[in-house]
Amino acid sequence: MKILHTKEEVKSALLAHRKENNSIGLVPTMGALHDGHISLVKHARSHADITITSIFVNPIQFNNPSDLEHYPRTLEKDLELLENKGVDYVFLPEIEEMYQEETLLKFDFGYLENTLEGEFRPSHFNGVGIVVSKLFHIVQPDYAYFGQKDLQQVAIIKRLVKDLSFDVKVEVVPTIREKDGLAMSSRNVRLGEEERKAALLLFNSLNLAKDELLKGISWLEVKEKVLSKFDQEPLAKLEYFELVETDSLKKLNSFNPRELDDTKKYSVCMASFIGEVRLIDNLPIY
Ligand code: PAJ
Repeated sequence: MKILHTKEEVKSALLAHRKENNSIGLVPTMGALHDGHISLVKHARSHADITITSIFVNPIQFNNPSDLEHYPRTLEKDLELLENKGVDYVFLPEIEEMYQEETLLKFDFGYLENTLEGEFRPSHFNGVGIVVSKLFHIVQPDYAYFGQKDLQQVAIIKRLVKDLSFDVKVEVVPTIREKDGLAMSSRNVRLGEEERKAALLLFNSLNLAKDELLKGISWLEVKEKVLSKFDQEPLAKLEYFELVETDSLKKLNSFNPRELDDTKKYSVCMASFIGEVRLIDNLPIY
């Protein structure tokens, strides 16, 4: 496994592979790797000839300075993991390599960015759009792998690829969970013992919603039940709990399992603080 620090190093390392017609799979990450990231790497390894993972904690996607400051960094362990999983290259740029000066360009993804996370993390998806565009330009991958865990990020990146005609196939990988159901996240290490228990409320609420919706119980009734469970958990502060059409992110107020549009997919998605840690999760329901 080779570590590349600059754009030029990436370009020259990948050129040889391009000449051989090898396909290139990119897995963008911010490090503090866990089995969720590794699942993306495994998908990349099984589809693409060459796998490159980027590790870059992208400052411009953090709207909360304390979140950026406390973002876990475990570089040595990350590199060991990636090496063991057979990754070919790691792109590890310094901030100055990605941002020589302040980016003036601003993305506006309209409804896709203003809904859900957008209400609580203004400018977050602009930062994601900028850094992912840069990575696509630098690496020019044939495939790029993203986790379903970040459902809104997936919708935005798919749209970015369409709107800017990137020649990249976006592959979406299912969410990997801990044994008890908590979605793996780099932020989970910041949960204290009691918070770790309380964090289960997210997955439990998603499951409850899925079961009840499929039984025909109304969305409003389901949502009320979940909101009241959150009210009873002093460590949790729910930000949103919504039923959406997975690709358009349009919110739904009702759901009839007998009258679904077969061409569409539906998910319940949510964000909640548990103590100081903000967690997001979602579950496809159909
Ligand atoms: P990061 O949070 O490090 O996540 C990197 C990728 O891993 C994302 O595509 C994310 O959806 C995926 N992922 C995280 N947890 C997962 C889980 N439990 N199961 C499956 N996949 C999971 O997302 C980002 O970084 C950044 O926004 C990035 C795209 C790298 C741009 O900076």
